[in-house]
Amino acid sequence: MLRAGGRLWRRPWAAAYRAAAGPGPGFGAGTGGDGGREEPEPELPLPEEPQLLRASSPEVRQRLRGLAVVCGRFVSAEEEEELLRELEPELSRGRYQREHWDKAICGYRETERALRGGAGRALLLRVADAAFPPPARPPQPLVHVLDLQPRGHVRPHVDSVKFCGCTIAGVSLLSPSVLRLVCCRQPQDRMDLLLEPGSLYVLRGAARYEFTHEILPDAESWFGERRVPRGRRISIIYRNSPPDTAPSPLSDLPAFIPDGAPQTPPRTPQ
Ligand code: OGA
Ligand code: MN
Repeated sequence: MLRAGGRLWRRPWAAAYRAAAGPGPGFGAGTGGDGGREEPEPELPLPEEPQLLRASSPEVRQRLRGLAVVCGRFVSAEEEEELLRELEPELSRGRYQREHWDKAICGYRETERALRGGAGRALLLRVADAAFPPPARPPQPLVHVLDLQPRGHVRPHVDSVKFCGCTIAGVSLLSPSVLRLVCCRQPQDRMDLLLEPGSLYVLRGAARYEFTHEILPDAESWFGERRVPRGRRISIIYRNSPPDTAPSPLSDLPAFIPDGAPQTPPRTPQ
């Protein structure tokens, strides 16, 4: 399990639903700076690629415009190769885990590390510019690397608001996959993102806080009519740190376990 100094990346969403009293008050999309949720998100310097997004309705599409974004060719084949050369030795020392202690992922191994090679350092700077424009805090230099087996997948969850900030950005390598967003309050509202190898996705604002995200298992891996066969997939996930005090409406979201709930995960076998 990935823990950064005892911190958890996610919280089990299903258990959180069960633990929650119900939806809290409304909240805006702005999540840029230190609790600045009133501010609209600044535009990302990324091209719109509507063919990589499928929303359940035009309203959902509109609601997530600029908040759930995919850039199809963010990393070149050469960069991908160099990144894999840096990642593989450490990954291959770990054994694939069948089930994550928080039940969020299965068929995976993961690590948290800095990418020190030329491609990795350049990627951090490019992701910072593309996905974390001010007033968002910049991404943490220690990235989360998730290696999913062809049969591995990530179940619906919302990343911890206590330990992760306003923006999540992921670079996908090796296999294409489908990332699905489902609205916490109205599960019929959803959007699928097609993640080709070399693509970058960004989740922020409502897409990060008000929707769960998941990587579909192979059997369900369709993008509309298009089958997206899953092979081994490696993602490099960039997150920023949260503001010192999380804005209060967040803790009322049904997808979160209230702070202070017992969190004593077992040590992860490496
Ligand atoms: C996670 C997660 C998505 C991905 O590990 O919290 O949501 O792109 N991963 O691998
Ligand atoms: Mn996540």
